[in-house]
Amino acid sequence: MRILIAAVALSFALAFTAAQFADAPTGFDNKTNGMVDDATHQADQTKFDETEQLSDGLGPLYNAQSCRECHQNPVSGAASQVTELRVGHLGPDGHFRTPDIPIAHGAEVISGRSLVNDRAICPNAAFPAEEIQERVPETETIRTFRISVNLLGDGFVEAIPDQTLIELSKQQCKSSHRKICGQVLYVPIVEAPGQMGVGRFGWKDVHTSLLSFAADAYLNEMGVTSRLQPDEVTKLCNTVSEPNDTPGPDGLSDIDHFARFIRATKAPARDAELAKSAAANKGQALFDKIGCATCHVATLTTAPAGTKINGGTFTIPAALGSVTFHPYGDFLMHDVGTGDGILQATPEHYGRRVFQRMAGYLSKQDFESSRNKIRTAPLWGVRMRPRLMHDGASLTFVDAIARHQGEASHVTQKFEKLKRSEQEEIIEFLKSL
Ligand code: HEC
Ligand code: HEC
Repeated sequence: MRILIAAVALSFALAFTAAQFADAPTGFDNKTNGMVDDATHQADQTKFDETEQLSDGLGPLYNAQSCRECHQNPVSGAASQVTELRVGHLGPDGHFRTPDIPIAHGAEVISGRSLVNDRAICPNAAFPAEEIQERVPETETIRTFRISVNLLGDGFVEAIPDQTLIELSKQQCKSSHRKICGQVLYVPIVEAPGQMGVGRFGWKDVHTSLLSFAADAYLNEMGVTSRLQPDEVTKLCNTVSEPNDTPGPDGLSDIDHFARFIRATKAPARDAELAKSAAANKGQALFDKIGCATCHVATLTTAPAGTKINGGTFTIPAALGSVTFHPYGDFLMHDVGTGDGILQATPEHYGRRVFQRMAGYLSKQDFESSRNKIRTAPLWGVRMRPRLMHDGASLTFVDAIARHQGEASHVTQKFEKLKRSEQEEIIEFLKSL
């Protein structure tokens, strides 16, 4: 009986979905999804594309000079081949430890982050003797690359209700007889101190809010401090006043422009020709049938316009409310045997001050158990990505699929048992995304 009621409720929900919700706009055309006008979107993109200099607060430690350097293929806001380096080790108690990285001939030790910055602003003319380049200490035996991800369409992802992701996790666990149980990870919302939400961004679901992520990226990728991340990683050879990111005449800081830029992007568009092909359509049916779609979920729906999210700090605008979109992901954490062993470094992502306030709460959370898990990579726009998986180490779709073990091993086995022509249809489908 309960099953029947659930089935009826589900078919109602599906009918409702079809009747009620519009599909998110897609395209690689640098145009807005309707959340702002095109001129505002263009101006926000200019901030995202801007190359930061020493006088803007770049560094002292950094990875690149602009958001676009890592998020631009084929247009600003998408992904790229740029990878970054994360390391750590296990302590005597078997728990993950972030590295202690000495800089300036050992005068200072950088701690509390798993990221190792690839670049530094000095030695330079003003500080010819200051040596602050980070290097991986020999002791850090857990090492990984993480490749840059797509941001286009992430405004829709941010607007998925927490409850949808919680239900999705329960439902996939039930339908797969507990073989596949995506993990929901609660993470702090930096702009709403004391509040948590279901993580959905980054390879390890480290943020639920795009504003939190923008501040994290501005500090850790570019070395630029903001109201949400006011503490420099190091003050050595730093001459610019803090925070580096201050509001303009419109009251918005760079991080606000970055978040609005990302929120207003269209979702990645499919390859129009391949999406129509018979092979890709057969491939999609097989993708569903063998269980790829249990994690790579085709369709999700955003909360209605007017819903307050991110601890009440952001109201879903009309353009992002009650919209269906097609990420081919569940935004949940899974162990598919590829886990890089790196635990999310809380002071790094949420700021040292927030972390101190949240420490008691976070320790109760399941962060530790997600150490070897990775968020299901959303497959929208995956055709633009020649290097696959979190480390960019798989160079063909077949190689990427073969690497799926753990929770996905029974699905991978089904893929391997398909006829060659059927496997090719699935690959054709992936090429259309
Ligand atoms: C040096 C390269 C690099 C730069 C510069 C960079 N990013 Fe990223 N970005 C990445 C990588 C790598 C990830 C995945 C990080 C992870 O999970 O380990 C990422 C993830 C993200 C995400 C999560 C998206 C998702 O769907 O999961 C957002 C949002 C983001 N970056 C925004 C920005 C913004 C805004 C800037 C500029 C302030 C920026 N990034 C600068 C490399 C970069
Ligand atoms: C248990 C959940 C799960 C199942 C089932 C699953 N995947 Fe994945 N998939 C993931 C995760 C998690 C990642 C990211 C792994 C990593 O980066 O280490 C991923 C990554 C990928 C990637 C790489 C995307 C990128 O941007 O790098 C492709 C392609 C892919 N999956 C295709 C498939 C196909 C095809 C199937 C079915 C044969 C499948 N997956 C089944 C969870 C799953």
